[in-house]
Amino acid sequence: MSENLKRAAVTGHPVAHSRSPLIHGYWLKKHGIQGEYGRVDVAPEEAAGFYRDLAAAGLVGVNVTVPHKETAADACDQLDDAAKKMGAANTLWLDDDRRLCGANTDGLGFLGNLDQLAPGWDKQAGTALVLGAGGAARAIVWALLSRQFTKVHIVNRTIEKAQKISDEFGSKTNAQGWDKLGMLLGETDLLVNTTSLGMTGKPPLDIDLDGLPKHALVNDIVYAPMETELLKQAAAKGNPTVDGIGMLLHQAVPGFERWFGVRPDVTEELRTLVLKDLGVIS
Ligand code: ATR
Repeated sequence: MSENLKRAAVTGHPVAHSRSPLIHGYWLKKHGIQGEYGRVDVAPEEAAGFYRDLAAAGLVGVNVTVPHKETAADACDQLDDAAKKMGAANTLWLDDDRRLCGANTDGLGFLGNLDQLAPGWDKQAGTALVLGAGGAARAIVWALLSRQFTKVHIVNRTIEKAQKISDEFGSKTNAQGWDKLGMLLGETDLLVNTTSLGMTGKPPLDIDLDGLPKHALVNDIVYAPMETELLKQAAAKGNPTVDGIGMLLHQAVPGFERWFGVRPDVTEELRTLVLKDLGVIS
């Protein structure tokens, strides 16, 4: 193996399910880069030491998945805004001074997807409604506030979780229970589902979009199936829609650029490759 070969990997526990090697492998090949992207299963008791000494493992950087995102952030010398805010990092690299840097790119992935598939979507930012209050919702609230949305409603079954996110992000955000959904839809410019509802094998997302203004953009981060019932209902009403697979692909872009020095594109070919591998399309 060449000494100059750059190696990166997805790390977590477990990592076997991750599509990151497929995504980065596609870009390495497309750009003719002599690099490698693998998988490293890191046992929880070894995680802190592993991230602190990435170079010892022969890696120029890593993606981090469950359950190590917080441990990885703690190990870093420097964090970007999003990782600081979330206390969790999913992308690590060594800078020129060999300092360990961390970023949280989930929010950037969300933004990159909408920028690509609905250009100008944030021109008149307005009011967003985020369904759900898990890790993905937190990253998306961060992303929306970075694009000057004036109001972000966080609607969740467990209102305490929505309230916790709202407390962190301040007065432009607002926590609500599902019972307020009908009323809030009428003032919504962007609707995002971050819950697992509507995903293959999960309960349906039972929502009536009648009150949603015609111009409102609807995005579902669920990508299996690709066209969820939420997106179908929105499209049937004439609303613009964006599906969720692009968020997974775009969140990988900043890491590849840091490690391998080229900013890769999210192409139709890559979308198809990953959706086929996931069994979402045949
Ligand atoms: P992630 O970190 O990927 O965002 P998560 O933390 O498991 O995932 O969050 C899942 C979201 O889906 C939560 O907002 C959850 O609501 P609760 O906080 O009330 O659990 C939501 N969710 C999952 N199943 C649901 C259901 N049957 N009805 C309503 N919301 C549901």
